[in-house]
Amino acid sequence: MALVQWHPRLRRIMRNNRKFFFGVFLIFLFVFFASEHERGHIEGDARRESDQIVALKAQLGYLKSKLARECPNVDINANDDSQPTIYAITPTYARPVQKAELVRLCTQFLPVPNLHWIIIEDAEAKTNMVSNFLQGCGVPYTLLNIPTPADWKISEDDPSWLKPKGVLQRNEGLFWIRENIPRSKNGVIYFADDDNTYDRDLFEVMRDTKTVSVWPVGLVGGLMVEKPKVSSDGNKVIGWDAVWNPKRPFALDMAGFAVNLGLFLSKPKAKFAYKVKRGFQESEFLRHLVTMEELEPKASDKVLVWHTRTEKAKLGGEKMLLENGKPPSDAMFEV
Ligand code: UGA
Ligand code: MN
Repeated sequence: MALVQWHPRLRRIMRNNRKFFFGVFLIFLFVFFASEHERGHIEGDARRESDQIVALKAQLGYLKSKLARECPNVDINANDDSQPTIYAITPTYARPVQKAELVRLCTQFLPVPNLHWIIIEDAEAKTNMVSNFLQGCGVPYTLLNIPTPADWKISEDDPSWLKPKGVLQRNEGLFWIRENIPRSKNGVIYFADDDNTYDRDLFEVMRDTKTVSVWPVGLVGGLMVEKPKVSSDGNKVIGWDAVWNPKRPFALDMAGFAVNLGLFLSKPKAKFAYKVKRGFQESEFLRHLVTMEELEPKASDKVLVWHTRTEKAKLGGEKMLLENGKPPSDAMFEV
């Protein structure tokens, strides 16, 4: 009713003040286009700035590796408290491709600021290869070792899913953190297997993790991408887009989450165990730390880590050399 009465009056006002309203319209147009123009500038500046940061990080990586090689006896650790430290825990074991895997990881970690690499050899003793390699890599690191017990060790001919891998090694890394890192430290824990592929943005995505953050992982669980299902506002995890055993409490790969250091240190039971169902290692660890509602989804529309698996080296030629009484091709090399 009120509207019907107002309508003719409104039209009269508009008609009598045409110039005024036209002026307001012009001002609106001007302000709109000026702000769009400014936004373009800001986006351009942000892009240039991020290019600069990428370049600086590359330099940082170069400097870290250069320093490690030039000053082998000095413990150079450029990490500081300016931002949370990422503790990347990597189990590793001896096989022909091991050094190549470690080279890839070193190269991927070098440009990342404030990353502490905890490598745990699945071995009775630390090997010279891994010790020397880390010494020259330039990423701040801690080297540990613990062997997998014989009955849990996966053999060359077993299918890769038969036994869980890296269980004691990851626990050893976690134990080192509990013993050596104070609660006051800002940090994040991430399990970085030695055969995956990591985008450098992944580390910035996980750095401000408050509880446990989760994100999509490429090439895992029989899918191109396995990922958390995220609520429409993007803030909560509401399930799992997985095909392989989607009923797992946390149906994600080891590479798909990171844990706040303080939260981990406050939960002494959080660790891995052999006696859990196949594929439940992640759930076993995470159940001590969070519920699904408490997870922080990150980078939900991107893949920043891939569960790549390196093909076993085919070394038939070495066998032939041996049969013919010749020395192995790597007699004088560390491969
Ligand atoms: C999948 C998951 O991505 C792993 O996180 C999980 O540990 C594994 O399954 C499992 O079955 O337990 P997958 O590629 O099959 O990964 O496992 P690997 O990459 O072969 O092994 C996981 C980590 O454990 C690697 O860093 C590897 O170097 C290490 N590992 C493997 C050992 O320390 N000792 C071994 O005998 C085998
Ligand atoms: Mn793997």
